Amino acid sequence: MSSKKGRVILNETEFYYQYKNEKYPIEVREAKSDDDFDSIVRINRSIFPHDNEIDDYARLWIQHNSNSPYFVITYNESNVVGYILSVVKGGYKRCITCELEQLAIDTNYHREGFASSLIKISLIKFQHLLQKRLQYSTLKIGIVYLTTGCTNYSAQLLYTKILEVKQKGAKICHIYGSNEYGEEEIIMVNENLEPIVEKFMEEYRALKL
Ligand SMILES: CC(C)(COP(=O)(O)OP(=O)(O)OC[C@H]1O[C@@H](n2cnc3c(N)ncnc32)[C@H](O)[C@@H]1OP(=O)(O)O)[C@@H](O)C(=O)NCCC(=O)NCCS
Repeated sequence: MSSKKGRVILNETEFYYQYKNEKYPIEVREAKSDDDFDSIVRINRSIFPHDNEIDDYARLWIQHNSNSPYFVITYNESNVVGYILSVVKGGYKRCITCELEQLAIDTNYHREGFASSLIKISLIKFQHLLQKRLQYSTLKIGIVYLTTGCTNYSAQLLYTKILEVKQKGAKICHIYGSNEYGEEEIIMVNENLEPIVEKFMEEYRALKL
């Protein structure tokens, strides 16, 4: 399937992938099955080949993060197009700080709206999951931050647009060793995320997520 021909439609009443004249249902859900994790490894290895040296390490790395959910975005039930990993930092409290640790979309589907939808819906689901896990119904994700390559402009534009994050502080060094861009990282933060997640929840309340 070639890129640029499809588009994710996400609005108050619809969530689907439009490709040519077909509409495919989209789902954002917690990765659970071996197939889901195989897909995450496949996408991780193709997009971040330097993160893990071999596929087995990528698999182990995912297990290492097993306290935090990986959310995948799929269309037509089984096609996993991307994944996101968000991690709680600094402890459990009413106002949670969350690091957006990793996000990747299969290169065949870039610029079709998958990452934007994945971020929005996974945040709603992650907050709900934490509320349930801690039995704390008023818990909110209040702060989000992430690091990204200082010339990874596509990611920076995406995060600015969807999460309204801003760069904070100066560039930081190669904290992940030699990353795929071989460059320094920046930190982007939104310290007032609550209204944004509220807005997503309000907007997509009618969808069967
Ligand atoms: C960054 C990434 C996740 C974006 O995924 P995507 O599904 O293509 O993003 P979307 O289609 O939802 O894009 C949403 C918006 O982000 C911005 N954007 C995304 N990619 C862009 C690009 N290549 N150039 C310019 N703007 C871009 C645009 O504003 C876009 O909206 P528009 O298409 O309506 O103009 C994807 O390119 C990717 O997987 N990159 C490699 C991994 C990576 O860099 N991850 C983040 C590291 S922290």
